[in-house]
Amino acid sequence: MLTFDPHGPVLLAGGYGVVGRELTALLRRHHGQWPLVLTGRHPERAGATEPGVTVLRWDLDSAVVPDVAVRAVVTVANDNTDTAMRACLAAAIPYVDVTRWTARLQRALAVVAAQPGGACVMLSSGWMGGLVPRLAGHLGGLVGGAVDVDVAVRYDTADRSGADSVDFMDRLGLDFEAGATGAERTVTPLTDVRRVAIGADLVKVARIDTPEQFTLPLTLGLRQAVTRLGFSDGSATAGLLALRRLGFFRIATGERLRGLRRALLHRPGSGGEARLRVDVAGREGAVAATVRDPAGQAHLTAVGALLSLRDALNPDASAGVAFPELAATPDLLADLRMLGVDVDAEFATHNTERAA
Ligand SMILES: NC(=O)c1ccc[n+]([C@@H]2O[C@H](COP(=O)([O-])OP(=O)(O)OC[C@H]3O[C@@H](n4cnc5c(N)ncnc54)[C@H](OP(=O)(O)O)[C@@H]3O)[C@@H](O)[C@H]2O)c1
Repeated sequence: MLTFDPHGPVLLAGGYGVVGRELTALLRRHHGQWPLVLTGRHPERAGATEPGVTVLRWDLDSAVVPDVAVRAVVTVANDNTDTAMRACLAAAIPYVDVTRWTARLQRALAVVAAQPGGACVMLSSGWMGGLVPRLAGHLGGLVGGAVDVDVAVRYDTADRSGADSVDFMDRLGLDFEAGATGAERTVTPLTDVRRVAIGADLVKVARIDTPEQFTLPLTLGLRQAVTRLGFSDGSATAGLLALRRLGFFRIATGERLRGLRRALLHRPGSGGEARLRVDVAGREGAVAATVRDPAGQAHLTAVGALLSLRDALNPDASAGVAFPELAATPDLLADLRMLGVDVDAEFATHNTERAA
C-alpha cells in the first residue's frame, strides 16, 4: 500500500523509460534533496542508479501496490486501470499525470469525483507534460485573457520516444470533440490541414486529439483551443494524411491490427529537437510564442512534468483536481530558459508591436 510521507521520496511510475529518465535527471539536478523511487515491470532495465535513487517493481496493471511511503507520485507510464491514481487518492498523496489522452483525462475526473482525496491531483497530460496549456494560460494573462489558442507542433522524426507513448497517438481513427461547452465541434484527426511557420520551418500540420483542446475552454473560458501536429519530415506527414484519406485508420481499428498501427506510428530515432508554436489571441492583444528544446520532446515533457510536480508539492496547493494552465507561474519564461527551453514570444497589441 502507498502511504504519504512529506519527507519521503518522489515515486516515478515508469521512471526508467524515455521520459522518466529525463525527469529523473532534472529532479536530481534541480531537487537533489528529494530521493526518488523509479518503478516499472522490469526493474533490471533501469540499469545502474546514482545515490538517492532506488528502483522497485510495480506493474500498474496489477492490483498489487508496493508498500512504500512517498511524498508524491508522477505517472510517466500509462495508468491503464487508474491504480496509481486511486492509491494516491486513498492516501492523500500528491499525484501528477502526464500520460492521459482526452478520454482518459475525462475518466480521471470521474474517478476523483467518486473518490475525492486529500491532496492535489495535477492533470498535466496536455501536450509536453502540460507545458503547452501552462504556457497558453501564462501568455493569456499577458494579453488580457485568452480567447482563442492555436498550437502547432513540429514533431522531429529523428526524436526518441518509448513504446508506452504509442497509445496516446493510436487514436487516429476516432473523432473527438473540441470547443467551448455548448459549442463543441466533432473533429476528425488529420483534417483541417494548415501550413504554419514554426521557427524557420514552414510545417504542414493537421488536427490530433490532445487534452488541452478539452481542458483550456473549460479552465480559461476559451472560445476554442486547436492543436495540430506535423512532422519535420514532410513525407511522413503526407504519408499519414494519405492513409487518412484512404480510410486506413477507420478500417484498421481494433486489437487485430494494433501491431500494424503501432509499427506505423512508432519509429523512434536517436534524438531530435522539440519545436512548437503557441498562438494566443487575447482580449487586449495577441502573442505568438515559439518553443524550442534542443534536448527533444522527452526532455520537454519532463520539464512540463517537473513544473507540475512543483505545483503539486507547493504547500499552498489545494486538494483536488488542478490543471497546469491555472497555475500562477509569474516567471515561467525565465524558469523555462533555466531548464534549457527557449521561448521566443512576439506580442501584438492594438496599435503597437513589441518583442520579448
Ligand atoms: N503529455 C505528453 O505530451 C507526453 C509526451 C511524451 C510522452 N508522454 C507519455 O509518457 C509516457 C512515457 O512515455 P515514454 O516515451 O517514456 O515511454 P517508455 O519509454 O515506454 O516508458 C514507459 C516506462 O513505463 C514502464 N511501464 C510500461 N508499462 C507499465 C506498467 N503496466 N506498469 C508499470 N510500468 C510500466 C516501462 O518499463 P517496463 O516495461 O519495465 O514496465 C517503461 O520504463 C507515455 O504514456 C506517453 O504517452 C506524454
